[in-house]
This record gives sequence, C-alpha cells and structure tokens, in this order.
Amino acid sequence: MCGIIGSVVILCVGAILVVVSCLVTFIAIPSLIENFVINSVVLLEDTIQMERFEDVPFYLNFSVTIFNISNPNEVLNGGVAAVDESGPYVYRLYQGRNVSGLEDDLITYRKTEYFEFDAEASYPYTEDDIVTIINVPYHAIIQIAERNFPELMSVLPLAMNGIFGQYNNPIMNVRAGDLVIDKIPMCTRPGIIGTIACAAIREMASTADNIEVQDDGSVTFSILANKHNVASPKYEVYRGLTEPRNLGIIRHFDGLPYFNYWTDEEGEDGEVIKSRCNDINGTDSGIFPPLLNRNNNLYAINTDICRSVELRFQGEVEFEDIPAYRYSANEWFLDNDDGCFCLNTTAGITQENGCLFKGAMELYSCVGKCHLYCIILLFCFGTASPLSICCIDRLQCSGNVLLLFI
Ligand SMILES: *[C@@H]1O[C@H](CO)[C@@H](O)[C@H](O)[C@H]1NC(C)=O
Ligand SMILES: *[C@@H]1O[C@H](CO)[C@@H](O)[C@H](O)[C@H]1NC(C)=O
Ligand SMILES: *[C@@H]1O[C@H](CO)[C@@H](O)[C@H](O)[C@H]1NC(C)=O
Ligand SMILES: *[C@@H]1O[C@H](CO)[C@@H](O)[C@H](O)[C@H]1NC(C)=O
Ligand SMILES: *[C@@H]1O[C@H](CO)[C@@H](O)[C@H](O)[C@H]1NC(C)=O
Repeated sequence: MCGIIGSVVILCVGAILVVVSCLVTFIAIPSLIENFVINSVVLLEDTIQMERFEDVPFYLNFSVTIFNISNPNEVLNGGVAAVDESGPYVYRLYQGRNVSGLEDDLITYRKTEYFEFDAEASYPYTEDDIVTIINVPYHAIIQIAERNFPELMSVLPLAMNGIFGQYNNPIMNVRAGDLVIDKIPMCTRPGIIGTIACAAIREMASTADNIEVQDDGSVTFSILANKHNVASPKYEVYRGLTEPRNLGIIRHFDGLPYFNYWTDEEGEDGEVIKSRCNDINGTDSGIFPPLLNRNNNLYAINTDICRSVELRFQGEVEFEDIPAYRYSANEWFLDNDDGCFCLNTTAGITQENGCLFKGAMELYSCVGKCHLYCIILLFCFGTASPLSICCIDRLQCSGNVLLLFI
C-alpha cells in the first residue's frame, strides 16, 4: 500500500516537476525573454534604444553601380547600347532621425542621411573615374522643350552649348563622383537663347528631385545630392508601448496614411479608391518590430522607389553569434498583376498591356514630374542592410534594385 502510495506520490511529484519544467522552458523563459526584448526595443524616452533610434550607431554600405556604355559611337548612330557594370562605388550611409514629437504611442521625426565615399570599399573604382552614360538632363530638356515650347525647337540647338557646356551631347562622359553626389553643372553660361531654356529648367527643378537651382542661377544634376544632408518628409510611427508588434509601423508619412504616386481606381460614383500600390505598409526600413513570426511577411517603405516593399523570411542566419532571421525582398516585389504600378508614361520597354516589362519600374511620378530619360543605375545595399533588395533575373544581379528614371 505504502509502496503504491509512495510511487503514486513520486509519480505525481515527477509529473509536477515535468509540468513545472515544461512551463519554465516553454512559457516562463520565453516570456521573460519576450519582456526583456520588448523593454529593450520600444521607444521610451531616455533609453539606449531611443538614442540608437535618433543616431543610428553604425553606417550602411550604399553601393551604386553605373552602367558604362562601351559603344557610344554606335549608340549615337542609332545602335543598341552595350553596357558594362562599373562599380560598385560604395558610399557609407550614416542615418539619423530628428525627433520632433512624442505623443502617447506615437513618435514624429524626419530621417536624415549623410553619404561619404568609401575609397577602400570601392577600390579599384574611384570617384574620379570617367563613365559614359546617357545624358539624362540633356534628354529631359529636349523632351520638355518638345512638349512645352515647340516653337523653340528650331533654335534649341543654338542654346544647347550654353546650357550644357562640355556635356552638350546625347551621351556624356562624366566623372562618377559628379554624377552620383558632387553634381553636374548646367546653365553656367547660358547665352541669350539659353536663358529662356534655363528658366524652364529652373522651373522644372521645383518638381524634379535630381535637379537643383544654385544661388547663382545655374542648375545642377545628380543622383544622390538631394538626399545628402537633407531632412526627409515627416514620419509618424508607433512607439510600440501599447502593442510592441507595432513598433516602428508608420501611421502617416508626409502627413498622409498612403502614397499618391500610383494609379488609383475610381468607384462607381466617381470617388477615388486607393489602390494597394499606394499602401504605406510597415516601417521606415531602419527599424523593425520585435517578436517576428517567420510565417508573416515584413513590410518597409523605400522612398527611393516611392513604395512599400514586402520582405519575406529567407532562412535562419547568425549575426555575431546571435541567431537571427533573414528577410529580403526578391523579384516578387516587382509583381504588378493588378497593374497599379503602371503609369503608361514610358514608351519603348512596355508589354502589350502598357505596363513595363517585369523587372522595371516606372519612376516618373516618384522622381519628379519632369521626363527624365532612361538612366539605369543599380543601388545595392550592403549585406547587413536591413533592407536587402534583390531583383531582376534578366540583369542577373542580386542584392540590387533596378531603378529606371524615366
Ligand atoms: C561595409 O563594407 C565594409 C567593407 O567592405 C565591411 O567591412 C562592413 O562590414 C560593411 N558594413 C555593412 C553594414 O555592411
Ligand atoms: C567606361 O567605358 C569607357 C569606354 O566607353 C572607358 O574608357 C572607361 O574607362 C570606362 N570607365 C570605367 C570606370 O570603367
Ligand atoms: C532638427 O529639426 C529642427 C527643427 O526642424 C532643426 O532646427 C534642427 O536643426 C534639426 N536638427 C538636426 C540635427 O538636424
Ligand atoms: C500592404 O499590405 C497588404 C496586406 O497587409 C497587402 O495586401 C498589400 O499588397 C501591401 N501593399 C504593398 C504595396 O505591398
Ligand atoms: C495603361 O494602358 C493600358 C492598356 O492600354 C490600360 O488598360 C490601363 O488602364 C492604362 N493605365 C493607366 C494608368 O492609364
């Protein structure tokens, strides 16, 4: 009897121990860790994470690859361009956030970015390399003139030299550093006819991110200068205090809960139905919420391409001995089955339905309202970038996004 009771008791104690240890391993410890994780990421004032949020303590590698035309003379005679990838030209991208408001569960800030050329990581490429590319501003000016000032077209050739100086050619040889960030000058000595054209260019500059008016009235063009040391539009995001899984999720960007770049639909009685392309999903791509579930996708917005990007779980990795999940965006993010990313403004590389071929994105509404012509650049983020964007089977690159400024 005793023996039986004894063994039942032992069994019970054993079972309780098992239950207790199960609770400890499967419930208690994870929730301790969960709380620890939550407390070390949500955006409370005067915490290390807030400091990290405001002044990101590491830089990202921002790589730019330029397509260098190797047969410029053939292209000028109507041939198809043959291009070599030149680069990557690696820039250290330092990021910060200038916080202007904390209110309940929301934080308001502008992002700031600062680029610095990394000569070592770029070796053997240097900022002084001369690359041969399509002369983007040149084609933009001609298209604008054709559309808006057809009466000027006959005299335009006389003005082009004054506008473009040494870059007065449909294809330009340009210093890589000037193209990317140091700015290509235009309208420095416009002459009489050029003055009119330059006035039009200055006007265009107000809607085109890549064109900037200088104090002396001249105009500059570059790919990144408009981001360098310039505050972004305002972000309003969740601090994660009431729901940690919302940490960093954008509520409003530039004052709105959606983008306005892409094609919306019209309802039956004429009201506008926001298309999914204009969704603002996820975070600013520099912060992600905790407690991820690998079955759920992440989203972040990428302001270079004016849209949300879907990131999917790719596998388990280790970062400095800490197990981690790797998420990335692959070609799926260019899926455009419902067509709302089609703007129908770009000709020449379109499918029958008017949309661009898969792998290309039309950035007409994103980069600025002026018609910038076909410069192809690959922006590659470093491997440790929170947003590793991949693309485009036809160009056989990975870790990149193809940008067509058209
Ligand atoms: C940037 O590149 C350098 C050198 O190529 C590398 O040591 C560093 O880890 C990279 N940083 C990131 C954040 O990818
Ligand atoms: C770009 O191509 C031209 C030939 O078209 C060549 O002279 C030049 O060295 C190339 N530049 C780079 C950086 O590879
Ligand atoms: C942050 O924003 C304020 C107000 O807009 C501005 O005065 C200040 O210079 C900014 N600080 C930084 C570090 O950019
Ligand atoms: C935004 O997220 C929703 C699901 O939450 C998804 O259906 C939609 O396609 C996403 N939009 C973009 C542009 O990725
Ligand atoms: C683009 O063109 C296609 C085919 O002509 C049409 O179905 C689509 O509605 C157009 N989209 C826009 C935004 O105009």
